[in-house]
Amino acid sequence: MKTPLPDYLSETMLGCFDGGAVADYIPELANVDPDQFGVALCTPEGTQYEAGDAEVEFSIQSASKPFAYALALETRGAAGVEAHVNVEPSGDPFNSASVDEETGRPDNPMINIGAITTYALTAPDDWTAAERFEHVRAGLSAFAGRELSVDLDVYHSEIGTSYRNMSLAYLVRSIGHFELEPSEVVAGYTRQCAIRVTARDLAVMGMTLGTGGVNPVTGQRVVSEETAQRVLSVMSTCGMYNASGDWMTDVGIPAKSGVGGGIFGVLPGQVGAATFSPRLDGFGNSVRGVALFERLSQDMGLHLMGVPPASDAAVHTFTIDEAPETRVVLAFQGPLRFAQSERVLRAFEEIPINELPVHLDFSRVTSADRVALRMINEGIRRLGLDGHPLHIDDPKDVLRRA
Ligand code: DON
Repeated sequence: MKTPLPDYLSETMLGCFDGGAVADYIPELANVDPDQFGVALCTPEGTQYEAGDAEVEFSIQSASKPFAYALALETRGAAGVEAHVNVEPSGDPFNSASVDEETGRPDNPMINIGAITTYALTAPDDWTAAERFEHVRAGLSAFAGRELSVDLDVYHSEIGTSYRNMSLAYLVRSIGHFELEPSEVVAGYTRQCAIRVTARDLAVMGMTLGTGGVNPVTGQRVVSEETAQRVLSVMSTCGMYNASGDWMTDVGIPAKSGVGGGIFGVLPGQVGAATFSPRLDGFGNSVRGVALFERLSQDMGLHLMGVPPASDAAVHTFTIDEAPETRVVLAFQGPLRFAQSERVLRAFEEIPINELPVHLDFSRVTSADRVALRMINEGIRRLGLDGHPLHIDDPKDVLRRA
């Protein structure tokens, strides 16, 4: 069989009408072919699907911001970054001077003022400008699983006219939220925005956040689980600028756009998706990208607030009464998280306190998260205290017992 997924992607693209205009405040971006359109998916196992112009390179622009934020979190720790960049949606356009009234911190790392500040935090202050940029380029490359390069034409085109970003950098520097020379920071940030990626790259980069920091294609751990979770949280509230509320309601996938025409979105543990189509709406988000994400979310049930299947199916309890003994058997299946583990503990609670042997069959369990491990191992300990001889069938060692 040939998998239907690429056909589905191609067909879905056909239904997305274009509109808007390419970004021209960065002169070089006005030269791209505005009709290009591509989409790519990457699964947690690293399987990739694509359609259209998914392998055409374009400049990552603001879609780089979550990854630079991740690098800053790794370098300075969450508290070290949050002291200088807040995590509140600004409700303002991406190039606004949105700072917290009391502390003067930029509102969040997804708007320009916050991303410029974040760039300064990606590496220690005593690194050279070249070392800092290479750290960011190499970091984004690890997210993509290939060496990424800078489009120097785009860089020169933007830096020549980046008066507004320069003023934002001077504002933050004057408040004291970074120590470096503002012009160096804007140059580095602008280079970061000029890194070339494809929709295929962005899908892998997104999935790396959605697996908790491990690149699903190369297997390399790029950032910690805590960092990945934090970045996705900020993307979900601030990633689409002043359209973030609409986006989260309609699409429900943490995402980030760039004026190069890219959008990537991540449903943790499910899929990384990316689109590329250069014409933008008034918020600076790709028109066909937004339309395609709306369709993907509906068709594939990807809304973050969609309710997952009930947890009842996680446990089957039965009593086997045959010589030489009567025993209670509990069989579990699927992934075990909080709700499933609570169901498991209720099933344990229903076992009468007596000397009957209890067989626990975990052979059909696919995974158990940290909370499930704590809850179920504690339940097993208590069953033992109740006096039941226990037989545990856990061939995949999901309970990770000594
Ligand atoms: O700083 C800028 O204005 C650009 N390098 C990036 C802005 C951007 O991509 C906004 N996104 N939609």
